[in-house]
Parts: sequence; C-alpha cells; structure tokens
Amino acid sequence: MTSETLDVVELLLTAEIYNEQDDLIVNDIPSKIRRPLWDSKTRNVAKPIKPGKTMIKNMFGIDDVEGALKINGKPFAYAVVDAYTGSVRITAGSLDAAAEWFKKQEGARDRILENPVLAYYYSSVSEEKDGNISYEEVASKNPPKEASREWIESIIEELSEGKGNGREWLKLAYIKAPEEVRESMDELILTERQKNELQKIELAIKNKEHFRNIGLYDIGKVLFVGPPGTGKTSFARALSKKLSIPIVEVHLSMITDQYLGETSKNIDRVFALAKKFDPCIMFIDEFDFIATSRTANDEHAAIKQAVNTLLKAIDNTSLVEDGVLLIAATNHTKKLDEAVWRRFDEIVDFERPTLDMRKEILDTILRKIEGNVDTAAIAKKTEDYTGSDLRMVIREAVLTALLDNRYELVQEDLDKAVKSFDRRSGLKMTAFIEE
Ligand SMILES: Nc1ncnc2c1ncn2[C@@H]1O[C@H](COP(=O)(O)OP(=O)(O)O)[C@@H](O)[C@H]1O
Ligand SMILES: [Mg+2]
Repeated sequence: MTSETLDVVELLLTAEIYNEQDDLIVNDIPSKIRRPLWDSKTRNVAKPIKPGKTMIKNMFGIDDVEGALKINGKPFAYAVVDAYTGSVRITAGSLDAAAEWFKKQEGARDRILENPVLAYYYSSVSEEKDGNISYEEVASKNPPKEASREWIESIIEELSEGKGNGREWLKLAYIKAPEEVRESMDELILTERQKNELQKIELAIKNKEHFRNIGLYDIGKVLFVGPPGTGKTSFARALSKKLSIPIVEVHLSMITDQYLGETSKNIDRVFALAKKFDPCIMFIDEFDFIATSRTANDEHAAIKQAVNTLLKAIDNTSLVEDGVLLIAATNHTKKLDEAVWRRFDEIVDFERPTLDMRKEILDTILRKIEGNVDTAAIAKKTEDYTGSDLRMVIREAVLTALLDNRYELVQEDLDKAVKSFDRRSGLKMTAFIEE
C-alpha cells in the first residue's frame, strides 16, 4: 500500500461522507481536495461530489487509479471503478467498513486531523465514536474558502463579466489570498500595546453582528503610524493570514492620476473593489500621499477635491455593513489633517523597537539560519534600527559568510554588517541633511 492508495481512499470517503451529511459545508473540505472541485459561479462545492479518474489525476497526479487501489496486488475491496464512465466510489453499503480500514493505516490519523469531514465522521457518525478526535478543533484549523486563491479568482471572474469596468479596477490594487501571504504574526515582535490592539481588531470582526445590533457602525477603521520598516505592511498581511480573509492592498501613489478628476474616480473605484471582496482587509499604504494637510499644498483646490473624496469613501465604508476592515498606514503623523484623524477608531503606533525587542527580532530572523551568535550584544549596538534595518544587517552578514564559503554565521559577520550599515546610513544622513 502506498500513500497514493490513502490519497484516493481519503477522497472517496470525504466525498461519500460530505454527500450524506447535511451538516457538512464547503469549509469542511480540506483545501487540497476543495480546489479542483470549486465552482466559481456558486462559490461552493456542490453536493454530491462525484469522484472520477480525471478528478483524481488532477488532484493527486495519479494516472493509474486501479493500480493505486491495489493492496498487496489485490483490488481494494470497498471501492469500485467504473471502467466505462471512469467514476470511482465507495461500494454501496461499505462506507463503515472502508472507514474502519482507513483508520488503521499508517499516517491515517494525521490525515483525519487535517480533514474536518473525516473528523466529523469518526467523532460522531461511526459505530465506534472516537473521543480523541474533535471535529470542532479540526474544522477550526481548516482554512475557510475565503482564504483560498479560488475564492478571489471567482470574484475577479464576476467583476470581469459585469457591465462595469471590473478588470480595470484590478489595476488599482493588489489582491492576495491568505494562503499566499508569507508574513505571519509569530514572526513579528509586537509591543504590548500592539498586541492589545490586535486583540481588539479580532474581537471587532468576530462580533460584527453585536456592533450592528447595538447601533455602533463606526468600527473597523485602523490607522498604523510609524517610521518606514517598523512592520506596518507585515502586520496587515499577517492579519489577513490570521483571520483568513483576503487583503486588498492599495498604494495611493498607484491611484493618483495626473488628472485629478481621475484620481477621485480611482478612489471611488478602489473602495468599490474592496467591497466586492467582503470579507476583506483593505490596506491603504502611503496614506499621507493624499491625505495631507489641506492647507499645506500648492495645488490647493485640486488636492482638496481628492482628499474630500477619500474622506467620503472612508465614511461610506463599514466593517459592519460591507465586511471591509480598513487599515491605513502612514509614516508621517504631522502631515495628516485633523479631519482624517477623526475617522479612525483605533490608532496603532509602530515605534522603533526597544533593546529587548531588537534582540527578539534578531532571534526570530536567525531561527532558520545556522550559527551561534550573541544577539543581545548586537541588539545593544543597534539603537534606532528598525526591524527592517535588522533584517538588512542579517542579510549582509549571511552574504559575508557566503563570501567566506560558510553557511553558518559567526559573531564577526554580524559585527561587520552593523558597522557597514552604520557607515551607510551615516552617509545617507549627511547627503540629505539639507532637506
Ligand atoms: N517588529 C518587527 N518584528 C519582526 N520583524 C519586523 C518588525 N518590524 C519590521 N520587521 C521586518 O522588516 C521588514 C519590513 O517591514 P514592513 O512591514 O515592510 O515595514 P513598514 O510597512 O512599516 O515599512 C519586514 O520583513 C519585517 O519582517
Ligand atoms: Mg510598508
């Protein structure tokens, strides 16, 4: 028996149980099985699932299904392959026997713990209910449909078919599925205040209905403030992964057009775009690019129009009504208009990391890198460095080690990297000191 056998039997069991049990929904299907079954029109995996040879080939790359279903040279007793139609299924009346067989195989347990449909069966349907398997727990770990690329593609497809210019709108933002996001919360070192804000954001999302019921619609607008390289973008993306909702990333420089009327239209378009992805995070980077103090600019009247459009768009977007969690990020606090500030219900500060945080950031980045270095000592030497600066230092150190034919880092590599970083940023400062 090979893992191919388990792949096929797992699929057949999943299909059979999913078809039979009314309680099971699309989010209970593991993503590897869900992807090829996804119907972008209905954004669902319709019942019944009817496995077949083509599906199995697409899903697992298995060409010889009969071969995969042989155990010690004999065909698996509880499945039938229809030679004519290519359909493959559990033999009528054999679900329990097939499931019992499956459970005894090596590696089956890991599969059950990643497959809510199977977990449901073994914990509450089968004769011998397994008290060590919790359907709720397995289901809560399975990424929901909104976390998948297919979900986003379905919405994009609909946008392109519509009468509007949906395709055009897509140029105004980057849209990522949580499963494509590389950043993760456990690689970010946060202050207590930031952790607290994170909790509040999560609670606001989970209790959307509660906020609607008590008439508080003004939640879910968050402003990230801090110098470049302090983790604002990473935080927003990691949040998308943590909450399993897509992230629509907007750079205000991208939607600013030389024709100001067009800029205002783009602002409206990009907000309309985000609302199509309900639920999602709309992340507006370089927020100060437009939302600058209205009096401080030469092209006064024109800019004012764009700012007003932006403010109106923010007012007309709601987590409760539209499912859009709005996060804006800015490097400059001073440039922002008072009217802009008022629109955010939470302000999260991103400061340069403290000594302890710098050590933690270094330790986190170095987790995957060989070598034995004193990160506390490096943290002491890197006052005022941002998280991004520390990453650059380590990258430099890794390159230095490679020049010396080493994959392992030594203290000297890091010391050198810090020195060269200091020298470089020193140069930068004198060059721009006139500014
Ligand atoms: N607090 C932090 N903890 C861990 N890594 C950090 C932190 N702040 C920044 N970084 C790292 O620095 C890099 C740049 O961060 P980024 O999120 O782009 O900053 P910003 O958007 O504020 O300019 C990322 O790779 C990130 O992992
Ligand atoms: Mg950024």
